Amino acid sequence: MTLFDRALFADRVCLVTGGGSGIGAEIALQFARHGARVAVLGRSAAKLDTTVRALEAEGAQGLALAADVRDAHALEAAVAHITQHWGRLDVLVNAAAGNFLSPAATLSANGFRTVIDIDLCGTFNACRAAYAALAARRGVIVNITASPQGFVAMPLQCHAGAAKAGIEKLTRDLALEWGPAGVRVVAVAPGPIANTEGMSRLAPGDAAETMQQKMPLGRWGRSDEVASAVMYLASPAAGFITGTTLTVDGGAGLLGAGCFLAALNL
Ligand code: HXC
Ligand code: NAP
Repeated sequence: MTLFDRALFADRVCLVTGGGSGIGAEIALQFARHGARVAVLGRSAAKLDTTVRALEAEGAQGLALAADVRDAHALEAAVAHITQHWGRLDVLVNAAAGNFLSPAATLSANGFRTVIDIDLCGTFNACRAAYAALAARRGVIVNITASPQGFVAMPLQCHAGAAKAGIEKLTRDLALEWGPAGVRVVAVAPGPIANTEGMSRLAPGDAAETMQQKMPLGRWGRSDEVASAVMYLASPAAGFITGTTLTVDGGAGLLGAGCFLAALNL
């Protein structure tokens, strides 16, 4: 079931970082199901190939680009590859991220820096690399942040929380600078999403069930519910929306860090 016209993104070209798995892979699949040609970028070629096979099974065109978002030159090469291959780039989705639970007191400097580098610097690198191509198409950037980590204080998440809060601010700054060039920059902040690497790390074992019971909507979200929000924001229906975040969290943020605190016995 989809509310969107199946040809909504016909002829459009999308790049999804972190598209080899989880929420990013679902976003790639949904864009493909609505007519787009989709490039997916991540470190593991095997994961990317799996996504591309899924896109091709839908009758869509996919492209696997193995790269690390921490490498700005690799991102520039990836965008050049896309524009040479398909002639354009219309939508960039930044979903690549790394995360783990760690007390701040024992998190090493490199552990903190690594998450900031992947999430925040990686998002900037992709935005910067894609800017000229997106400006040529009056394109859209959708950054994936997180609720409630990007907004409220949360234990064991100072690295990822700082990165996601930074991406929220970057979203607004780039929207201001790049709006005159016709590039919209928005964010989607998912809450806990079922069957993802993220939640297997953040709510291991029994914590998953406890957290779902505490959710205002009584469940975790689905990756396709995040993808629907991303597609809406990337569509012409959202043509006057920029610099803002659409929260897709089942109400988790209404409780502050409450869902996580209860689940992790904190
Ligand atoms: C403490 C840790 C750690 C852990 C790694 N480190 N895991 N510290 N607890 N569990 C430290 C290491 O000891 C090292 O510091 C530093 O981090 C870098 O580790 P590497 O393994 O060398 O990094 P790298 O190979 O670049 O891998 C990045 C990674 C990894 C983030 C550490 O887990 C990864 O690749 N993750 C990608 C998949 C993922 O995380 N998906 C979930 C996204 S979900 P030292 O000092 O020893 O050198 C998500 C949830 C939503 O984001 C909510 C967000 C707010
Ligand atoms: P995931 O499956 O682990 O997705 C993260 C992707 O990023 C992976 O495909 C990974 O592929 C890629 N990646 C990681 N480091 C990279 C790097 N240095 N360079 C390039 N690619 C890299 O996790 P997920 O749970 O679906 O999360 C997807 C996004 O949603 C993330 O931005 C996350 O913060 C956000 N989010 C998730 C939840 C949730 O409940 N899961 C909640 C809120 C927000 P490689 O390892 O192959 O590089």
